Order: sequence, then structure tokens, then C-alpha cells
Amino acid sequence: MGVVGKRVARSEGIHRVTGTGLFADDLKYHGMLHAAVVRSPVARGIIRKIDTESISRRTGINGVYTFKDIPGRNAIPIVIDDQPFLAEKSVNYIGEPVAVVVADSRRVARAAAQTAELSIKKLTPVIDLLEARNHPDIHIFGNDNIYKHMKVKRGDTESAFKACNVIIENEYRTPYQEHAYIEPQAMIAIPFPDGSLEIRGAMQCPFYVRKAVTTITGLPESKVRVIQCATGGAFGGKEDVPSLLACQVALPALKLQKPVKLLYDRTEDMISMSKRHPAWIRCKSGASKDGVLRAAEVEYVIDGGAYATLSAVVLFRGTAHSIGPYRCENVDVDSYAVATNKVPCGAFRGFGSPQVLFAAESQMDQLAARLGLDPVEFRKRNLLRAGDETITGQKLKSSVGLQQSLDKVVRVSGWTPDANKNENIGFGFSTIYYGVGLGAGGKHLARTGARVIVHEDGSVLFSVGTTEIGQGMITVLSQIAAEELGVPFEWVSMMPTDTSRVPDSGPTVASRSTTMSGNALKDACIKIRNIIDEEAAEILDDQNENIIIDNGTVYAGNNEIPFVKVIESCTAKRKSLSAEGWHIAPPTSFDNDTGQGDAYVTYAWSANLAKVKVDKLTGEVMVLRIWSAHDVGKAINPSLVEGQIEGGVLQGLGFALMEDMANDPTGAIINPEFSTYIIPTAEDQPAIVPLIIEEPYPDGPFGAKGFGEQPLMGIAPAIANAVFDAVGARIKQLPITPEKVWRALRKS
Ligand code: MOS
Repeated sequence: MGVVGKRVARSEGIHRVTGTGLFADDLKYHGMLHAAVVRSPVARGIIRKIDTESISRRTGINGVYTFKDIPGRNAIPIVIDDQPFLAEKSVNYIGEPVAVVVADSRRVARAAAQTAELSIKKLTPVIDLLEARNHPDIHIFGNDNIYKHMKVKRGDTESAFKACNVIIENEYRTPYQEHAYIEPQAMIAIPFPDGSLEIRGAMQCPFYVRKAVTTITGLPESKVRVIQCATGGAFGGKEDVPSLLACQVALPALKLQKPVKLLYDRTEDMISMSKRHPAWIRCKSGASKDGVLRAAEVEYVIDGGAYATLSAVVLFRGTAHSIGPYRCENVDVDSYAVATNKVPCGAFRGFGSPQVLFAAESQMDQLAARLGLDPVEFRKRNLLRAGDETITGQKLKSSVGLQQSLDKVVRVSGWTPDANKNENIGFGFSTIYYGVGLGAGGKHLARTGARVIVHEDGSVLFSVGTTEIGQGMITVLSQIAAEELGVPFEWVSMMPTDTSRVPDSGPTVASRSTTMSGNALKDACIKIRNIIDEEAAEILDDQNENIIIDNGTVYAGNNEIPFVKVIESCTAKRKSLSAEGWHIAPPTSFDNDTGQGDAYVTYAWSANLAKVKVDKLTGEVMVLRIWSAHDVGKAINPSLVEGQIEGGVLQGLGFALMEDMANDPTGAIINPEFSTYIIPTAEDQPAIVPLIIEEPYPDGPFGAKGFGEQPLMGIAPAIANAVFDAVGARIKQLPITPEKVWRALRKS
């Protein structure tokens, strides 16, 4: 292959390192105004009065808007419509939007929003996730505070546990994780004289944004055009939240007929935007003395916060992945997404699976130890292989590179079962998997479009509906288009993602861009290639099927001609070299009563090994090195795969060791800033050894699978297992802080 598999430099890389990318806050429009959001100061209450008069009288204020001003429906539609755009009768979390203030300057708008007078009757909030599930008399959502309950029932766990030689049962907890993208949420709405609106900003999902704006304005979809700006990181945090910001600027822009911009400051961003769901997990796992995992029982509860947003689909992913990538005939999973009076949680790299995998992989090491097996041997006896079934009964047909990933980690690291000779040094493994794409939980959205134009000079311009959020999508898709058309990589460009260019292509989530947009783009390129091949065959006096195009030259047997000459010939004959591509994901299924079905189209696989050193005096954990192998089907660009692994490992290290966002009893987040919410820096980065496995996925472009989220997912359990290996402290509650390790060592 020409360019697929090559380490070409990122298309937008130069703009990122030189600071020349155009982010939302870089854009200025004539007459542009600035918005700020009035937010609830209480976690649960009844709104008595919102005094907008006092704000309106201040100088520099152009307008104050509440739910009364919404021309359409007061809802942010995601999975269900329980979340209002602006609070109407009640508030359900601290930071919930109540009104939007618009002023000549950002400073004036923010100051006015701070002084807004709200009269709210305070009610007792529900803060903890287990309290929410069991609370008899506080109803945040329905009668039971449960957004979604899911099950997986397979075999007969009761009798299987009776036959087990070893059973391990534990409870685990994981906290919030903040995305900590560099660029806070930002959005602009620009009204046009024809009544239409243009929305520009930081986002993952322009079609979600369009739906939210049409819902609150009542405008038809054809009158709302959403264009993504350069986006400074997202990691799931710009999946659903940008819909809120878009509405917060769209409403005033329509009312005032002026462009309106909104930029959250960091603390506002951290208080009001989504996070990884805090979770509680109870696991009971049993094995027979031959080292076979015989039964697993999982109870999984995630804290959805005050509105349902994406919790049901986050729960779906967690449920499907809840025992890890192992064969197990007897499984009983019960999972719940519950409502609390806190900021709604949402998407974050891994999407409900890092929490359960931390528990599942901690269980595996404890089982192995009790069986007297080393962690690699025990995993090898139970790993999923081609032909096996997952816990949802999905038969894995091909592209199962889990054993290869584990073997590679062991080989490259030189690990052996008796490797741990030095005091306070430990090694910990994790083996994990990731269902690629939306799967059965979101299959109605599992389609994508692409448009391709080959211009008269041979340069190629394409549009897709998914977005570049730092993952390298533009580069990877440009490589796919260049390969398919046979032109140099440099000839290919992508239009900024824009809802007016392609049909609704679903969200940019679930590691789906390479496979979904890649396949749609291939489809469009093949249509154009057919025309070019036909023209080339005529010029070179050969058959269509003998035409080979590579790196800008067209070959037929011993004859060749520059690609551009063929394009000129097509142009002279007025042939269209423009096409639309479309891709629908292969079928998936899920039975809600039994939890059985083909949950995802395919899976990516990963094995990780962490080497740590623990200071027994302070409890501090130093991660020395992490080996991380991933089966990605085909690395379209190995450098980008390695980059994803390096970034994900560091984000996973933060989740494992330091990131800890907490609420006080009133529901307020006590550390909504980077001075108190600690994330890893370059200083904390261990040596990272990224390893690539390629077990081709037949339905992916050139065999590729999505894997962008996976690098984060296996790090916390690998580190937890390494800490145990080093000093014998089993930490079941993330993050693994020095205090927790210190306490555990004092107890033992
Ligand atoms: Mo992604 S965490 O599926 O936005």
C-alpha cells in the first residue's frame, strides 16, 4: 500500500504547535455580543422567582433570557428529554442554567450573571449514588431515581459458584474524572437575514448541536448550520455539553439578531460540564482449581447526576464489558444508572467501562493468587479467542488479537513470573477489550456520510460528518482517501465538519470515526475511481480492471500517464468527479431481558503491564514503565496509534493515582480548578512502550478497527495490581493516593 500504514505527519499538527488554529474564541464578528449563564447556587430546590429586571437595568446589558423566552421546546434532547435548556420550576444541581445574560463585553455579562437574584426554596439533595438508589422519599427521576437498569443473564451462577474451588468477592469505587481538555467549552451563534442561524464552536457532535438548537428555537434543520471550529481536546466532554452552549447563544442571537459568543471560564466549565460517572461495583468471581473462570456476578451502579443525558448508553457499554475479556459460562450482571442532585455525568474516554474493568481486572489477579497461578497464566486460560462467545453470547468471528497482545507485552518487557526480586517494585497486568462503535445501544445512529470532490487540478477535497478532536481523524481519513484514489497524501484536504455538507452522520464518539467515516469515504472514492479508471482505460487503450493508480501516476501494463492528465480529460468531457458515500454499520442486537446479543460489530483488544515502585514510608506510588499493546486491526498511521496509546496511558495514570473530584454535603464540587484537581503532567509521565497488533477487521477500511478510547481503560487496574505485587496493598477505591496505600500498609 502507498500511504495507508505510513507515519505521515498530522494534517493539522502545524496549526496546533504554532497556535494558528482557529478556535471559537479566536473568531470575531461585527457587532458581536457576549453571553454569560446564570446558574443555580443550590443542588435541589423550587424556583420561586427569577429577577431579571435588576440585571436588565445595568449598563451594557442587551438582554436577559429565561425559559419564558424559549420559542420552541424547553428541552435538550439526548436519549430522553428530561433535561430542560433553562430551569423552569425546579433546580436539580449546583450550576444548573437558569438564565442567559447578554452584554457588550464578556466582563459585563459575567459580572451581571454573578449578581442575578434568584429566589429558590431549598430542598434536601441526594448526593451519594447508593443513597439515590435506596432513597424512599426523594424523587429526582421517576419513582425510583433509576435512569436505566440493565441485566446480563447467562448460565446458572448459583450452581456454578457451588462448584468453584475459589471465590473472591469485593466492592470497588471509582470517582469522577474530569476531561481537562485545554480549551474550555466555547460557542458562537450568528443570525442571518433569512432567519437562519449558523453555530460555530468546539464540539464532537455537530448533529447533536443542530438537534438541540432546532428543538429550542423551532427552526427547521435546514435553517441551522453547525460548523465545528478547531477543538482543543474533548475526550467525551464535548459530546453532549456543547448542545447546551449552542442553545445558550442561539436564543439571544435570534432575539437580538446579532452574533453572540459564549466562553466558559475554567471553574464554570468544571462545575457545570459532564464528567466520568462515579461508580460502585460489587464483584463475585469464582474459578475451579484448574484455573478456569466458572462464574461471575457483577452489581454495577453509576452516578448519572441530575439528568439522564447519556447515562443509559454509558451503562450499556459498562454492562457489556463488565467481567473483562474472558470466557465465562455463568454470568449474572445487574447494573443501574441512578439520579443524584449533581451535575449530569456523560461521556469520557472508555464510556462506562474503565470503572468495571478496574474491578474485573483486580478480581482476576486476586483469583490467580488464590489459585497459585501467575497473572499471565491465569489470564491465558480464560482469554477470549476467535470462536468464543462474550458474556452477551456474541460469537467472535475474527480479529481477536488479545492473546497476541498479551504475548507481545510479556515478550517485549521480558517479564517472568518470578521477575519481582527488588523490594517495593511491582508488576501488574491488565487485559481488556473495547466494543468498537455505537453497537446495539446506539445502532439507530450507526451510519455516516462523506462527500468527495476531485478538482480539475487533481487536488481532492472531502467532507465527513465526524470531527477532529485531537485524535488524528483528518490525517487518517486523508490517508484513506489518498490510498483509494491513488494520489499523494498532500493532495488531500478536509473541509471543517459542517452539517450542511453531509447528511446526519451520528456523533464522534465510541472510537467510530476511522471505521465509519473511513468506510463512507471509501465508498465515495470508489465511485469516483470508477469514472477515472474508465477514462484512463480509454486513454491508455486498456481494460478498466487493469488500471492501477499510485501516488499520482496512472498505470496500465507498461503504459503510464500522470493522474492529472486523466482528470483534465474527464473535465474536458464535463464528467462529474464528485460523489457522496454512505456507510451503515453491520447489524447488532441486544435483548434487554437476558442481556444477550451481538452487542458490538467488533472489538479492539489490549494488554497492559505496569511496573511501579512504592514508597512504604509515604505510600507514594511511582509508575516506572508501562507496556501497552493494542490490537487495532490495521494501523492506518502507526504514529497516531502510538500517540493515542501515550495520551491514554497518561490519562489512565491520572485516573489511577491522582484525579479526585469531590463534593461537600451540599453537593458543591470542592475542587473545580487545576490547582486542587490534580492531573498528571510531563513530570509524572512514566516510560511508555506502545505496541501495535494488527488482526484485520474485515469490515473496516483496510482492516482497521477503532481503538482511541482503549489506551486509558486498562491502566488503573494494571497499576492497582502492580501496587499489590510491590507491597501487598490491595486498593479497591480509586485514586490510589499515598494516604490509602499508607493506611493499607499500616493495617496489614
Ligand atoms: Mo466518547 S467517551 O464515546 O465521547
